[in-house]
Amino acid sequence: MTKRDSMSLLLLVIALGLTGAAPVEDDKVCQPHSRPWQVNLHGEGVTCSGALINEWWIVTSGCGFQASPYHTVASLGEHDLTVEEGTEQHIQVADVIHHSPYRSPLHSLTMVRLAEPARLTRFVQPLPLPTRCPQPGEKCHVSGWGSTIPNHSEPRRYLKCITAPVVDDQTCMNTFPEYLFWSEGMFCAGQANTDNCIADGGSVVECDGQLQGLLWFGHGCSDPADPTVYTKLCRYNSWIDSVMDRYVPTTLPPTTPE
Ligand SMILES: *[C@@H]1O[C@H](CO)[C@@H](O)[C@H](O)[C@H]1NC(C)=O
Repeated sequence: MTKRDSMSLLLLVIALGLTGAAPVEDDKVCQPHSRPWQVNLHGEGVTCSGALINEWWIVTSGCGFQASPYHTVASLGEHDLTVEEGTEQHIQVADVIHHSPYRSPLHSLTMVRLAEPARLTRFVQPLPLPTRCPQPGEKCHVSGWGSTIPNHSEPRRYLKCITAPVVDDQTCMNTFPEYLFWSEGMFCAGQANTDNCIADGGSVVECDGQLQGLLWFGHGCSDPADPTVYTKLCRYNSWIDSVMDRYVPTTLPPTTPE
């Protein structure tokens, strides 16, 4: 190889390197339908994820629900939000029950009741509520629509999946600036050199087959060394059960003719 040839080769390598680096590739797309409990809540100012816990109920975190949630739709069985894959069920939201209606800094949990029950299929399955709390170091799976690249925004399209370790409370409190009011209803996952960013409110944390968390603060997306804060579902089992037990539909069924 002449000196000139090797110079052109070098330039070619550099050019390829540059073009390869230009678009940021988000490679954390989930195996389609591997998270059949994942719900896309959308419409009427709402855009977030939630988790199906049985055929009637979804749990999510804050999610921006307004006074009238009745035009919000829950899409189940989704993977690519931009196409109909034949696996989806789009069901109207009938009711929204906030744990703390007055924007408490201590809780971020909302229950969403479907207008009609979800049909359970291979693509639509509930995730069981936790029977224990998450343990520091435990590897959990987080899923949501949106970028997994820090400080990168892109349209919500494919469901993304990351694996993040649970971080002990003390480490989490210590890493945060003072403005974060710590609550027993929080836990953290993700740290430097681990997966730690999904830009989608209500992203779902599953550990060992149980629903353990819902994205509360997405800190990992601005500084991947900071843990990300999730609602600690194991603290809310009795509240969730009581909401379901006491629930009376607000819309009456059609009256039967005399
Ligand atoms: C993301 O943006 C914030 C605010 O501009 C900045 O402080 C932070 O360092 C950025 N993080 C990364 C990983 O680039």
